[in-house]
Amino acid sequence: MGTQTFINCSLSAIIITFLVSSYSAHSQDLTFKLIHRDSPHSPLYNPLHTVSDRLKAGFLRSISRSRRFSTKTDDLQSGLISNGGEYFMSISIGTPPSKVLAIADTGSDLTWVQCKPCEHCYKQNGSIFDKTHSSTYKTEGCDSKPCNALAKKEKGCDRSGKICKYLYGYGDQSYTKGEVATETISIDSSSGSPVSFPGTVFGCGYNNSGTFDGTGSGIVGLGRGPLSLISQLGSSIGKKFSYCLSNTSYSTNGTGVINLGTNSMPSNPSKGSAVLTTPLIYKTQNTYYYLNLEAITVRKTKIPYTGGGYSLNEKATGNIIIDSGTTFTFLESGFYEKFGAAVEASVTGAKRASDPQGMLIHCFKAGYKKIDLPEITMHFTGADVKLSPTNAFLKKDEEIVCLSMIPTTDVAIYGNLVQADFRVGYDLEAKTLSFQRIDCFGTL
Ligand SMILES: *[C@@H]1O[C@H](CO)[C@@H](O)[C@H](O)[C@H]1NC(C)=O
Ligand SMILES: *[C@@H]1O[C@H](CO)[C@@H](O)[C@H](O)[C@H]1NC(C)=O
Ligand SMILES: *[C@@H]1O[C@H](CO)[C@@H](O)[C@H](O)[C@H]1NC(C)=O
Ligand SMILES: *[C@@H]1O[C@H](CO)[C@@H](O)[C@H](O)[C@H]1NC(C)=O
Repeated sequence: MGTQTFINCSLSAIIITFLVSSYSAHSQDLTFKLIHRDSPHSPLYNPLHTVSDRLKAGFLRSISRSRRFSTKTDDLQSGLISNGGEYFMSISIGTPPSKVLAIADTGSDLTWVQCKPCEHCYKQNGSIFDKTHSSTYKTEGCDSKPCNALAKKEKGCDRSGKICKYLYGYGDQSYTKGEVATETISIDSSSGSPVSFPGTVFGCGYNNSGTFDGTGSGIVGLGRGPLSLISQLGSSIGKKFSYCLSNTSYSTNGTGVINLGTNSMPSNPSKGSAVLTTPLIYKTQNTYYYLNLEAITVRKTKIPYTGGGYSLNEKATGNIIIDSGTTFTFLESGFYEKFGAAVEASVTGAKRASDPQGMLIHCFKAGYKKIDLPEITMHFTGADVKLSPTNAFLKKDEEIVCLSMIPTTDVAIYGNLVQADFRVGYDLEAKTLSFQRIDCFGTL
């Protein structure tokens, strides 16, 4: 019902303009489902896959996605994923609405979908959005604000000089090209009723190619840049959103939720776990959410984090990207060596083992005793985040558990396994990110 009021008031009273939208959504509960790609609610769900099949695939996707955050290619700007993306959102686009399943991506800005007439579209499960059948589709001009918000190499203009075009490229030769337009985008809230966002800037992609998989027919951009859905809704949602990912999302029905707006943010309860807050670091590459990781403690051993800032021209501050679309966590390899050794030293009651799937490095096999896994604490600036054993370790089979973090020589990434069962709040106004331990399954 809350959401219904929201639609009425937003449609009757408010004109949305780019970056200055003014919904009065502060009191609304904007809660949307995040569908894990491997959950039974996802069209990609394959009941024949075992949990370890899913983890292996998730591992490969993590590696592939981490390359897109790389500072070693010059494809930083669009930061898009192609075959990646762990969570879907069901969105509708246009008038009348056309439903698509899009990847929810904190690693990219412009929301886009495949769009008819296609020059080249990849195979998509479900019908492709046809702009000619929508009464609310409106292209953006080449001098428009949204057009100017695109990076130079992402921006173009059609032959007539009137329609803004975008080009997003990926490190792996995948790309999407199309026109920049505004449309009514609606998202089904968890309670079932759709919430509409009229006048949302998005990309109508008519030449899309590469390793996209046909299930997600586009991207919902939740990044930090000016074109992301979060930035466009701006003050109407207090520039705030949060999500809560269930610890079981890759194995059962558990998925996640995303909330837009002030009400959704972690707040200190009278009892229960406190809110831990750390600065969101702003860099010249403005899509990603950087945090500053100072150290990690394994049981009693505190190891200073030595991974650098990784941005080409910047100081070593903001040394890890927090991302919901990467499953595993990547830590700088020099640091990882010491960290891994500390983990090895701290695990008691277990023999060393190798990962049956050859992915993870530090694995342990139960002996006569139960494995005693160490508590691992991530020390972000101002926020000491204690991980549970399920955040930090993965059970590979009945006997073997492995540390679910891996080394990288490139940018560090705080992935979604370590974020499970936290409410993670992004406050772009205060420029902070907060964590609160919570049972996310209970919020679904
Ligand atoms: C789509 O874009 C690619 C890359 O720019 C280009 O090579 C190709 O010719 C385009 N395809 C069509 C059908 O226009
Ligand atoms: C994809 O196709 C399958 C088989 O045709 C269908 O059961 C499923 O609902 C489709 N999913 C989507 C998202 O359209
Ligand atoms: C998962 O969801 C399906 C369909 O909604 C339901 O039939 C099934 O009982 C659920 N399984 C669990 C473990 O909750
Ligand atoms: C996942 O969360 C549920 C509560 O929703 C809890 O009962 C369960 O122990 C957790 N599982 C693991 C493996 O941590």
